[in-house]
Amino acid sequence: MNKHSKIYVAGHNGLVGSAILRYLQTQNFDQLLVRRRAELDLTRQADVEEFFAQQRPEYVFLAAAKVGGIHANNTYPAEFIRDNLLIQNHIIDAAYRFGVKKLTFLGSTCIYPKLAPQPMPEECLLTGSLEPTNEWYAIAKIAGIKMCQAYRKQYGFNAISVMPTNLYGQGDNFHLENAHVLPALIRRFHDAKQQKLPEVVVWGTGSPRREFLHVDDLATACVFLMQHYDQPEIVNIGTGQEVSIRELAQLIKDIVGYQGKLIFDESKPDGTPRKLSDVSKLTQLGWQAQINLEDGLKHTYQWFLANQNNIRE
Ligand SMILES: NC(=O)c1ccc[n+]([C@@H]2O[C@H](COP(=O)([O-])OP(=O)(O)OC[C@H]3O[C@@H](n4cnc5c(N)ncnc54)[C@H](OP(=O)(O)O)[C@@H]3O)[C@@H](O)[C@H]2O)c1
Repeated sequence: MNKHSKIYVAGHNGLVGSAILRYLQTQNFDQLLVRRRAELDLTRQADVEEFFAQQRPEYVFLAAAKVGGIHANNTYPAEFIRDNLLIQNHIIDAAYRFGVKKLTFLGSTCIYPKLAPQPMPEECLLTGSLEPTNEWYAIAKIAGIKMCQAYRKQYGFNAISVMPTNLYGQGDNFHLENAHVLPALIRRFHDAKQQKLPEVVVWGTGSPRREFLHVDDLATACVFLMQHYDQPEIVNIGTGQEVSIRELAQLIKDIVGYQGKLIFDESKPDGTPRKLSDVSKLTQLGWQAQINLEDGLKHTYQWFLANQNNIRE
């Protein structure tokens, strides 16, 4: 990619797509192609083909997807597997047939087995059963990885697949039920502070350990790999550091300044006990995360306060 390459960012209004767009703009890439869902529904193949035939992008960041937390995955399994399969099939196939030079497909570390070795190396893919609460989404993502590898093998199409860990930052979805754990916690502590509630109840025991990467770090990693990585094997993107849900909740409580009680509802599911990605491959390639969790959370909460009237929910 050079500064004048024609680059399509699919999903540019989302958490990841908006961060990639922001970063490319700061790096003075000047031919950035975006379409809102209302302009281009990526589940409609004919529309996707027409878009690629007319616009002929040279590079593609595939950051469009149906994404959500445990509750959303549990409630809308059909949409999670259908929409993600349709979106990635249409874009990867059209990108190949209309001469895209390189495509970066965004998967997620939820593709790895529920009881994968920790930290999770890329090689543990398809070595055990998945976490049931998000298997619909995970299966779609695994199909996307295999499609990229198959198009590279049969057609020599330069598609790479990157597997980010849990992400957070500005532009996230703060819906109380459908959001991921981190933005949901920010929202709940903030609302409890505003409404002077005596306590905030968090799902589970608080003991599961998670890794969180700020989305601005992810954006730099995606552009770095688009520029420097041309292999079929998947690459994890993370910080290599983990925190318990209890520690995360306490950190967010302090950053929001909520004075009430923090309670854990142990009758609710915990999900995967531990989820830490092995980032040694990416480190060897020359990239490392720069934003630590506390700074990232403070930045995200400031953004939330400044955008309360138009947050996604
Ligand atoms: N969030 C995370 O923690 C996380 C972690 C690891 C990997 N990832 C990966 O990163 C990628 C992006 O996730 P995200 O967190 O940025 O999700 P997101 O914030 O929900 O953004 C997804 C974007 O895709 C667009 N989209 C969805 N269906 C569409 C359709 N049918 N037609 C056109 N646009 C459509 C959405 O448009 P609207 O704005 O109109 O809804 C939205 O802008 C996904 O592949 C996901 O697997 C995310």
